Amino acid sequence: MKKMMVAGNWKMNMLRYQAKDLTQDILSGLVDVKDDIDIVLAPPFTALDVVSGLIGNSRVMLAAQNVFWEDRGAFTGEISPAMLVDAGCKWVIIGHSERRGILGETDTVVRKKIKASLSDGLNVIVCVGETLQEREVGKTIKIVQSQVESALMDLELDDPQRFVIAYEPVWAIGTGENATPKEAEDVHVTIREITGSIFAQDSELIRIIYGGSVNGDNIDELLHMENIDGALIGGAGLDADSFVKIVKIAGE
Ligand code: PGA
Repeated sequence: MKKMMVAGNWKMNMLRYQAKDLTQDILSGLVDVKDDIDIVLAPPFTALDVVSGLIGNSRVMLAAQNVFWEDRGAFTGEISPAMLVDAGCKWVIIGHSERRGILGETDTVVRKKIKASLSDGLNVIVCVGETLQEREVGKTIKIVQSQVESALMDLELDDPQRFVIAYEPVWAIGTGENATPKEAEDVHVTIREITGSIFAQDSELIRIIYGGSVNGDNIDELLHMENIDGALIGGAGLDADSFVKIVKIAGE
C-alpha cells in the first residue's frame, strides 16, 4: 500500500537551538497521528545531528536538502550520500528549484545525485517544476516531462517506494500562490504516465507529491486529487502547529 508523504523542507533556516525547539514541538504534536503516513523533516546540514538525536527511532524520518554524487575525496564543501546515511538520513531532496535556479544545477547533475544516493541506501525526493514564464507560454508539460525523463533515465529501482517525485511549480514556491488542485493534478497525471511507461505496475508505488505554498488551509483540497500522494512543505513547515495540522489532514 502506498503511504501519503508529508515532508518539511526547512531550507536555509533554523540555528541548532531553533531546530531543537521546532522538532520537539512537532514530535509532541504528532503523538496522536495515525501511522499510515510518512513524515520527513529536512533541516539544514548543520542541524541534522540535533534533529536526528531527537527523532531517534520515532516514525519521523530525517532528510538532507542536497548531496554530492561521489563517495569521498577531494570535493571541498561537498557531502556524500554515505555521510548523510552516517548522519541518520533516510531521505535526500535532490534538484530543488532553488538549487537548479540559483546554483545552476542541471538535469545531468540531478541524475548523478539520484543514482549515487539510491545506490548508497538513501531514498530520494526529486523536485521538478516549471517557471512562471514557462507556464505562461504553455510549456509546463514539456518542461516537467523532460525533467522527469532525465531524472529517470537508466534508473533501476529496487523498491519504487524509495523514489518520490515532487512537482513544485517555481511560481508557487514561497509566493503564497499555490497551484489549484486541478492544475497540480494535470501535471501529476503526466508524471504518472511517464513513470508508468518506464516502470509498468511498479510505478503505482512511486509517490508524486505537490509543493508550493502548501498550508493547513489548502492541503485538504490538493490531497483529494487522485494522483497527489502528499506534499513538500517549505514556509508552513517552519511552524510546528501548521506542519502538524498539515500532517493530520493528510493522515485523515
Ligand atoms: P513553500 O516552499 O511551501 O514555502 O512554497 C516549498 C518548497 O520549496 O519545497
